[in-house]
Amino acid sequence: MKRFNSSYKALIIGASGAIGAAFVKDLEGDKNCEKVIQLSRSEPNEFGLTIDLKDEVSLQFAAHTLQLEGPFDLILVSTGILHGENLMPEKRLADIDMSILQETFAVNTLGPALLLKYFLPLLTNHGLMGFISAKVGSIGDNRLGGWYSYRASKAALNMLIKTAAIELKRQKPDALVVAIHPGTVISELSKPFSGGSGTNARDAQIATQEMLRTLDGLKPDQSGGFFAYDGQELPW
Ligand SMILES: NC(=O)c1ccc[n+]([C@@H]2O[C@H](COP(=O)([O-])OP(=O)(O)OC[C@H]3O[C@@H](n4cnc5c(N)ncnc54)[C@H](OP(=O)(O)O)[C@@H]3O)[C@@H](O)[C@H]2O)c1
Repeated sequence: MKRFNSSYKALIIGASGAIGAAFVKDLEGDKNCEKVIQLSRSEPNEFGLTIDLKDEVSLQFAAHTLQLEGPFDLILVSTGILHGENLMPEKRLADIDMSILQETFAVNTLGPALLLKYFLPLLTNHGLMGFISAKVGSIGDNRLGGWYSYRASKAALNMLIKTAAIELKRQKPDALVVAIHPGTVISELSKPFSGGSGTNARDAQIATQEMLRTLDGLKPDQSGGFFAYDGQELPW
């Protein structure tokens, strides 16, 4: 990325997912990127670390351990859930279920709030922390309805990011924290919906290259914003 000096360090949280793995590949191919550290739930990294967004201690421990490797110029978070065992996005109010709400918020909102708490302090003064959000989390753009838990969890994530950006500005005026929508991408998460091959869904590598280009061009006064992969600013 051009925004950083010639030996920048990156941390990818959620590196086991389709989008996270594509970010790792992009950054490993960038000759200016000195180091890319991966962190995920299912694949221990070079330090033997894994994290579970529902386990605060695992996040605190990982951040504490990685402090020695940082600070990081770029931290990208590409974790999230939309469906799972006994979990499908709601089509109507009658489908709302406490366990689906709790699971979706735990992974998409509460875990990322703790990532802000523990990992934002590991960012350099000119660094950028980006969370993969989703356009369906836009309140202003919600025309189709449905997917109550997922939409609300991403809208709340965007609010956490906006709020953290205000605090970050006081401490590191040139650093940024933003939300970015990847577009529809082929992955496990999108597979049951429009995310299979043969649909409009794009390969993760295309989406990550687009997102990195957009993130590269952001200015400090755009911190706290919500952007699409192509640079378009999205309504809250
Ligand atoms: N694909 C799309 O079309 C699309 C569209 C809009 C937004 N997004 C967003 O993009 C992000 C990445 O999704 P993806 O498409 O790459 O999906 P994916 O391939 O299913 O990846 C999801 C990632 O989330 C991780 N994860 C889930 N629960 C976790 C937990 N409790 N603790 C730690 N990690 C956890 C998974 O880790 P393990 O595999 O290690 O368990 C995996 O790395 C998500 O935030 C999603 O909402 C995707």
